[in-house]
Amino acid sequence: MTRLLTWHDEWSVNIDVVDAEHRGLIEHLADICHRFGPEASPRRSGDACALIDALTDLGEAVREHFNREEELMQAVDYEDIAEHCTEHALLMAEYTDQLRRWRAQGIDVFEEDAQDNARDWILDHILGADRDFAKAFHALDDRLAATAGCYGVTARTRINAARKDL
Ligand SMILES: [Fe+2]
Repeated sequence: MTRLLTWHDEWSVNIDVVDAEHRGLIEHLADICHRFGPEASPRRSGDACALIDALTDLGEAVREHFNREEELMQAVDYEDIAEHCTEHALLMAEYTDQLRRWRAQGIDVFEEDAQDNARDWILDHILGADRDFAKAFHALDDRLAATAGCYGVTARTRINAARKDL
């Protein structure tokens, strides 16, 4: 039986724009599970092209999210950005590989184990590397809030601009 995949507030990294995107990715995956899971109506499931297209779109949405996250990291000079970018690249390579296998198998139903793997793939990112970044981001934010003067104002402006642009 397909488990209901919904956003949990404890997954928040307390950066509004990042949380909004993470929530969007979870909802995107939930929609695919709903439309193509084993309990979906035969009208919806049973179409290999539609399922692969939906999974490809999900991968693209994650790639775009990673790009915007990397821009935010750059904007605040996150010191572990290289490591985080490497993880993004590895996650995308893993997904691309999985997509190739799904395409070769011609899957037309998004089975529970595949749903679980996709959910874990997204959550590993949200609950892992992104939490490390959020910790550094909030520490910087706190330091800047406590600092008066030009540098603080300039850096804070950069953070606010990055937050808005993501
Ligand atoms: Fe993220």
